[in-house]
Amino acid sequence: MRVTIVGAGFVGATTAMRVVQQGQADELVMIDIVEGLPQGLALDMRESSPVEGFEPNIHGTNDYADTAGSDIVVITAGLPRQPGMSRMDLLEKNAGIMRGVAQEVRDRSPEAVVIVVSNPLDEMTFLAAQVTGFPKARVMGMAGVLDSARLRYFIAEELDVSPSSVEAITLGSHGDAMLALPRHATVGGKPLSELVDEATLERLFQRTRDGGAEIVGLLKKGSAYYAPSASVAQMVGAIAGDTKTVLPVCAWTTGEYGISDVYVGVPARLGRGGVEAIEELDLNEEELAGLRQAAEGIRSKCADLANL
Ligand SMILES: NC(=O)c1ccc[n+]([C@@H]2O[C@H](COP(=O)([O-])OP(=O)(O)OC[C@H]3O[C@@H](n4cnc5c(N)ncnc54)[C@H](O)[C@@H]3O)[C@@H](O)[C@H]2O)c1
Repeated sequence: MRVTIVGAGFVGATTAMRVVQQGQADELVMIDIVEGLPQGLALDMRESSPVEGFEPNIHGTNDYADTAGSDIVVITAGLPRQPGMSRMDLLEKNAGIMRGVAQEVRDRSPEAVVIVVSNPLDEMTFLAAQVTGFPKARVMGMAGVLDSARLRYFIAEELDVSPSSVEAITLGSHGDAMLALPRHATVGGKPLSELVDEATLERLFQRTRDGGAEIVGLLKKGSAYYAPSASVAQMVGAIAGDTKTVLPVCAWTTGEYGISDVYVGVPARLGRGGVEAIEELDLNEEELAGLRQAAEGIRSKCADLANL
């Protein structure tokens, strides 16, 4: 299992650390355009292996030849948000970066499963699929695991319970059209809607939608990386281990939920082949309408990409 992480910034480096510590890869390669950065970070991580007790199988490089034949490629290259910016403000700059990276992935690792992390997430996932030309099941984006984790944490904090007792899922887009599903949220097996009132539910959902911006506002430079890297590592683990775990990811739709030919956040079964199936939850009319609206928003932004 050879894993490449493109971009050795905050998200890329913390993801690399988690993946090697969890023993998910036989070999991990971290690549960046900044000379010395991936090499230095990888050396620092290897030096922590005697203390942490993991195999020091991580290397840094600036040369895509060293990434050849990867089974999984995680793309985190690109600019993060600054205070006051929306994810969509990154579209033009990150599209240029994504095009270049995706061409290298296509040429060097033609059999890889690709996980896109760069923002704006849904549109960058579409672009990576378009440029690589890979089967769409082998190209997905990370957003739903993170958004769902944030929601689960906020619910746990509100009710003063362990986050591990909270189940909740978000679908749709990684942005304002994120769809939280109150009917599918439970705390210790009890429906969330029986434990909090409507106003509290809406406050928790809105905080989740704004979760990335809340961190950007506090950090004042750069965006979140601990929860994002944990989310990517969970996806890498599911694919590398062929676990068939169902996780909310940005996946290509082919008629599920009445949505076709667009990337959008849906629950997907992950395995060695990438997205092996999209699971159809029982959604009511309002929820379905929200998901379809998110999908149409992404479709129209992806059409804009052609003009950049
Ligand atoms: N999907 C999500 O939920 C989610 C969560 C957090 C961050 N993000 C996004 O992930 C991206 C990375 O965030 P970060 O905090 O790590 O940023 P960062 O600035 O710390 O790291 C980005 C890295 O990409 C590198 N890079 C730029 N162009 C490159 C290229 N052509 N090839 C290889 N490397 C290149 C930079 O040198 C830098 O090291 C941003 O676009 C951010 O918005 C997405």
